[in-house]
Amino acid sequence: MYHLLFLIYIVCHSFNPLTLKLPLCLCSLCSRFLQYRDPFAQRRHPLVDPVVVSEIRKCLEEGIEFQGELLNFRKDGTPLVNRLRLSPIHNDDGIVTHILGIQIFSEANIDIDRLSYPVFKQTSCHHPNEVNTDSFYYLQAPNSHGHPCRHICGILQLSDEVLSQNILARLSPRDVASVGLVCRRLRQLTKNEHLWKMVCQNAWGREATGILESIPVTKRLGWGRLARELTTLEAAAWKKLTVGGAVEPSRCNFSACAAGNRLVLFGGEGVNMQPMDDTFVLDLDSANPEWRRVKVSSTPPGRWGHTLSCLNGSWLVVFGGCGSQGLLNDVFVLDLDAQQPAWKEVLGIAPPLPRSWHSSCTVDGSKLVVSGGCTDAGVLLSDTFLLDLTVDKPMWREIPTSWTPPSRLGHTLSVYDGKKILMFGGLAKSGPLRLRSNEAYTIDIEEEEPRWRQHSGTGFPSVGSQSAIAPPPRLDHVAVSLPCGRSIIFGGSVAGLHSASQLFLLDPREEKPTWRMLNVPGQQPKFAWGHSTCVVGGTRVLVLGGNTGEEWILNELHELSLVSKPEMDPEMMTSNH
Ligand SMILES: *[C@@H]1O[C@H](CO)[C@@H](O)[C@H](O)[C@H]1NC(C)=O
Ligand SMILES: *[C@@H]1O[C@H](CO)[C@@H](O)[C@H](O)[C@H]1NC(C)=O
Repeated sequence: MYHLLFLIYIVCHSFNPLTLKLPLCLCSLCSRFLQYRDPFAQRRHPLVDPVVVSEIRKCLEEGIEFQGELLNFRKDGTPLVNRLRLSPIHNDDGIVTHILGIQIFSEANIDIDRLSYPVFKQTSCHHPNEVNTDSFYYLQAPNSHGHPCRHICGILQLSDEVLSQNILARLSPRDVASVGLVCRRLRQLTKNEHLWKMVCQNAWGREATGILESIPVTKRLGWGRLARELTTLEAAAWKKLTVGGAVEPSRCNFSACAAGNRLVLFGGEGVNMQPMDDTFVLDLDSANPEWRRVKVSSTPPGRWGHTLSCLNGSWLVVFGGCGSQGLLNDVFVLDLDAQQPAWKEVLGIAPPLPRSWHSSCTVDGSKLVVSGGCTDAGVLLSDTFLLDLTVDKPMWREIPTSWTPPSRLGHTLSVYDGKKILMFGGLAKSGPLRLRSNEAYTIDIEEEEPRWRQHSGTGFPSVGSQSAIAPPPRLDHVAVSLPCGRSIIFGGSVAGLHSASQLFLLDPREEKPTWRMLNVPGQQPKFAWGHSTCVVGGTRVLVLGGNTGEEWILNELHELSLVSKPEMDPEMMTSNH
């Protein structure tokens, strides 16, 4: 037996408060309460009591409570008993705006093909203050002993607050926000930080909310506002900032990532193609952030065209790239917070081919994923490898082997929903040619046999619809994973007259994902490269470097802030005065 709480949100404008006539959609909704054995059935199953159905309709129309039992069917057609309670919720003017529903399902012990109708108990309509114990007599209050029957259902004894918080916590951030607009009572019930944190946690997963919890922005804005701003991106803005210190000697083709509120940079190509092996950190928490060289007691061989990713907390991982002896396929990890930080090599069994300009990401705080890149012979790769760094004798695993997207370099991997990866763009092999790509692929590495799938509708821009235009093909671009599972793409090397700084948004979880363009105010960077961009705390994207001819200026940063900053916050400003 299991319980299902739900809230029917009346969105129909046709609801007439004077006649209390329910809109058609609600009647069809209540007649959808499971009287059809399968979606294609044209009639109700003969065992469904038509009296119950008309009782529901009557109670809904009169704005009074309904309690009763219904025959219901699973997707596969097996019968279930559905004990249903529907209570109307009135707004400040006494108009029914919502209906609170409690469903309790249990197995129906009947042979659906043999029994003849009717098999279900009487139902009744109640005025709110009466509690009919009969309708729920199979349920026992948690603290009652002995008699299995004639106890009031435990759920019915809970307060409005507890019930509504439990129901609301299961809705999406958007729905909770809508419910809060209905009346003062519901607004009050949705103004609860704990509730909003649960809503965010359900929608975005524990890992994403854990990261958000650790950043000061969340405290300042509160979970409700944060959820709104990350959903609508209404407060997103670009800003330019300058930092102190120096990354010397100057270099290009390094790799950078964020560890907590710190930016970390490793390696790169110095003058005369010298492979660099030093590590720099920029602490954004300090009052005057400055680049500082990290004193490490041991370091990986110098390289460029490698990947640096944050594994978990203060742990970083480097893979591959081009060193003085050619291409590499080694793995090194560093704990920035160790007393004496040192890069340590992880010797994985059966490593993938040495490569550069590949793409990497980390999953679960423990696994490194490496995909594509370019070999010594200049051949593009299409493989995907995974290495669990937390096990004793780490072993590389190739995923998947059946079908892979065309081989490529300079693409991005971004993680969403915890274990799923979105691959986008790069320089891809297309017959005898190598072309910039704007294809998107996804994979769920938790599946038993993970496989790449191409996203339909993302290959070619569709004509006529502005909002459905895919980003122009590109490589070495920036891909940002939002806590809510969507991805933002911008920057990189784009052909022709297209602007690289235009932002594009994609939700890979949609059934038919479509690209949307995002217009963001503020001073945007002229260019942004994937290997020199960091995402901090899930809400700030930092683009490193201006470029004057040959040199990279790493004291110039552009920040894309996805939530409102204190100085732009009108509510904060008024409270300060
Ligand atoms: C970085 O590496 C790429 C690819 O090897 C190369 O084409 C480029 O000239 C290098 N330097 C800069 C400044 O991008
Ligand atoms: C992070 O990863 C490293 C390397 O695998 C591991 O030793 C460490 O325990 C992990 N830390 C956390 C907090 O998970």
